[in-house]
Amino acid sequence: MSSSPLSIRGLTKGFEVGTVNEKIALDHLDLEVPAGQFVTVLGSNGSGKSTLFNLILGKLFPDAGQILLGGEDITRQKDYKRALNMSCLYQNPLRGTAPNMTLEENLALAYTRKASRSFFAVNRADSAYFRDLLAQLDMGLEDRMKTKMGLLSGGQRQAASLLMATVAQPSLLLLDEHTAALDPGAAEKVMEVTEQIVARDRITTLMITHDMDYALRVGERTIMLDAGHLVLDLTGEERRAMTSGALAELFYSKSQRRRAI
Ligand SMILES: Nc1ncnc2c1ncn2[C@@H]1O[C@H](COP(=O)(O)OP(=O)(O)OP(=O)(O)O)[C@@H](O)[C@H]1O
Ligand SMILES: [Mg+2]
Repeated sequence: MSSSPLSIRGLTKGFEVGTVNEKIALDHLDLEVPAGQFVTVLGSNGSGKSTLFNLILGKLFPDAGQILLGGEDITRQKDYKRALNMSCLYQNPLRGTAPNMTLEENLALAYTRKASRSFFAVNRADSAYFRDLLAQLDMGLEDRMKTKMGLLSGGQRQAASLLMATVAQPSLLLLDEHTAALDPGAAEKVMEVTEQIVARDRITTLMITHDMDYALRVGERTIMLDAGHLVLDLTGEERRAMTSGALAELFYSKSQRRRAI
């Protein structure tokens, strides 16, 4: 389908380098993500997770290292060019949406982004397609297509944002704590929808979370960053055998170990 492998090689990014405030957010990070793999990303505050996303998205440029998507070196590519191939979703359900436009118009905008059409309009075929996609979420959103985005509940908005992020079939989906601002019920529903869409379109996905249960339950691989290093990489049987309690213990021991150095 639309997926591509992601290769991160020796990726390094420092802030305020050479000053007393110097912070190395990513330190020679290597990560290979095969096409279609769904990876959950753990790490304490300030461990470099969002910096990694910002480098992948082209909002920041690295001091050293390479980023390849589908074999293409995109390390220095402009962010608007990469945006054709990747989508990112954040904690705030309104970020990246137009709150005064309807749900349908928001979806049409996201859809148009990649369709290389020079004008914006919702035609009947698109409308039927969006209705079908919304109905698949089973949240009653197909009856809210004419509702302004800003009037939907947080969970509804985030589910709709997820559709917006994936309707143009990106090669890569980045989720930065996208359920963290939702109540547990809404978070669970948005997580279900996430799994459903990623599985359906087989999108290569990285999902940052602070929730140990989601980190193990969702996707097929769990990685952990600490002080810009990869300190844990779990797949297969090792991951299946891991409990959220044991993972939490590992989390604290890994981050404490680095702090003690
Ligand atoms: N623009 C910036 N200027 C200076 N320092 C920065 C900047 N962005 C990030 N940092 C620093 O880089 C480190 C990594 O930050 P990052 O935002 O990647 O962490 P994170 O893992 O996403 O944390 P959180 O879980 O809190 O979101 C932190 O020490 C942070 O203070
Ligand atoms: Mg962050």
